[in-house]
Amino acid sequence: MTDFDVVTSRKSTASLKWDKYRDQDVLPFWVADMDFKLAEPIQRALEERVAHGVFGYTIAPDGMSEAVIAHLSNEYQWDVDPNWIVWLPGVVTGLAMSCRAFCNDGDDIVVNPPIYHHFYDSHEEDRHNIVRVPLCKIDGRWTYDMPAMESAFNDKTKLMMMCSPHNPTGTVFTPAELQSLAALCKKHNVIMVSDEIHCDLVIDKQATHYPTAAACPDMADNIVTIMSGSKTWNIAGLNCSFAIIKNQALRDKFQMAGQSIVPMVAPLAYEATMAAYRDGGEWRAELLDYLAANFDYLRTELGALPGLKVEPIQATYLAWVDATELGMDDTQGFFEKHGVGMSSGEQFGHAQYIRLNFACPRSTLVEGVERMKAALATLA
Ligand SMILES: Cc1ncc(COP(=O)(O)O)c(C=O)c1O
Repeated sequence: MTDFDVVTSRKSTASLKWDKYRDQDVLPFWVADMDFKLAEPIQRALEERVAHGVFGYTIAPDGMSEAVIAHLSNEYQWDVDPNWIVWLPGVVTGLAMSCRAFCNDGDDIVVNPPIYHHFYDSHEEDRHNIVRVPLCKIDGRWTYDMPAMESAFNDKTKLMMMCSPHNPTGTVFTPAELQSLAALCKKHNVIMVSDEIHCDLVIDKQATHYPTAAACPDMADNIVTIMSGSKTWNIAGLNCSFAIIKNQALRDKFQMAGQSIVPMVAPLAYEATMAAYRDGGEWRAELLDYLAANFDYLRTELGALPGLKVEPIQATYLAWVDATELGMDDTQGFFEKHGVGMSSGEQFGHAQYIRLNFACPRSTLVEGVERMKAALATLA
């Protein structure tokens, strides 16, 4: 049984998350990685590979695709052929490759705010137009505004980039929601890029993730799925992701877009990812329980404070907090001054929100919450 309460200092490890506040008394709850140590099987796989001592150019090791395919089959009943997999050093790399591969000059790419900021940034600004169709909230749950989507699609629309489960709102989309989007994309001959990096982080036991390509078989020839074990098993610094593209013509175009630009995946990244999918199931189950308990704590504590609404989430370890009632111009900056470093909702497209990464030992989270309470007390 993993003890996620153990605090591991990340100071002096050049951690992006912690070094932002290197010489300041600010606890970081921003960028999406976790403050937990690796699952034991991953640590062991890395140590064994390091012991070998030679690190030349490396292709996907034997068993790599099989580990991913078995995971997708067991978790999502999705049958994937090994030939459909394209190994990548990052998910954002795959978003950028998709824009370059599938869009001509002047084409439109649809994205739906609020959304992870690289969805706004991965196209070529002088060649492609980003069309923003905001999500809507129905009964407190963020989802697609289908009438607005229908109005936004036209002859110039070539790509729709979606995030499922969704960062930052935490929505896990239903098959019906995915199928409505797929039907619209099919009608307009639009390619769907489905970033499913958070798919193994469903913390709501009532929710189930459905890969877009599996839920929408009629559209499967026009879907690029991008996944990684990086968020779930906390190996984002190692850089191993993959795209799954059934249609060979699409796959060829996608790969061409990365030629001479995108580096090969590193040997340690492959080993860690293979061990994660193959032997990391028990650790993940324990992690999900810990994250769900952290989120419950956060909702109870912050929900009792004036001016903050912690919205319900079904997946991810990112709380999406509506701070509209505080009426501040810079909520993130206010809490940062009081020692709590969160992400501003502005970068996702909603300035009145803050995003809080709760993937840390409970004691760190408690300290963050206490600082937030103290910060709000200064307003009274
Ligand atoms: C939706 C989403 N896509 C991609 C990434 C980053 O992926 P990578 O580091 O593999 O480029 C993140 C990281 O937070 C994310 O939330």
